[in-house]
Amino acid sequence: MRFSPSLTLAGLASLATTSVLAQVPFFGAPQSLAQVSVGEDVLVSVFQGGSNSQFEDVAIALGISQCFDGANSLDVFYTGPFIATFVGTSRYQNFTVTIPSFYEAGQFAQVTAALFTLTGAGAFPALETIAVVLEVV
Ligand SMILES: *[C@@H]1O[C@H](CO)[C@@H](O)[C@H](O)[C@H]1NC(C)=O
Repeated sequence: MRFSPSLTLAGLASLATTSVLAQVPFFGAPQSLAQVSVGEDVLVSVFQGGSNSQFEDVAIALGISQCFDGANSLDVFYTGPFIATFVGTSRYQNFTVTIPSFYEAGQFAQVTAALFTLTGAGAFPALETIAVVLEVV
């Protein structure tokens, strides 16, 4: 998570408080609208926002999809534990997705991640879903 330098300490404190209930993961890679080719192995880095509260990363599911004339199929390429490496107060894990050979160039594709965590002393369950759109070229 990037903080603007103008953010006050009070602002940081309130962010830290709300993040106990809502830790929003984000993609460190790929970039939004990154250009990818069929057959290419694309690095997918999922970051979980910083928090100094207790937490447990339970599981993550990752999929990729592309719309063709109304047909929409989701290819799940990972389900399992989220085993993250710490970077400062954030943590992340790398995954790799191979762009399916039948994806059409000139169309967008979307990578979706759903991360399930238990947060805080109360083990508050949270499921966050995020997506990033890629351009197949
Ligand atoms: C994730 O991938 C990036 C880019 O290849 C690499 O620099 C980094 O060390 C990897 N991190 C982990 C935890 O594997």
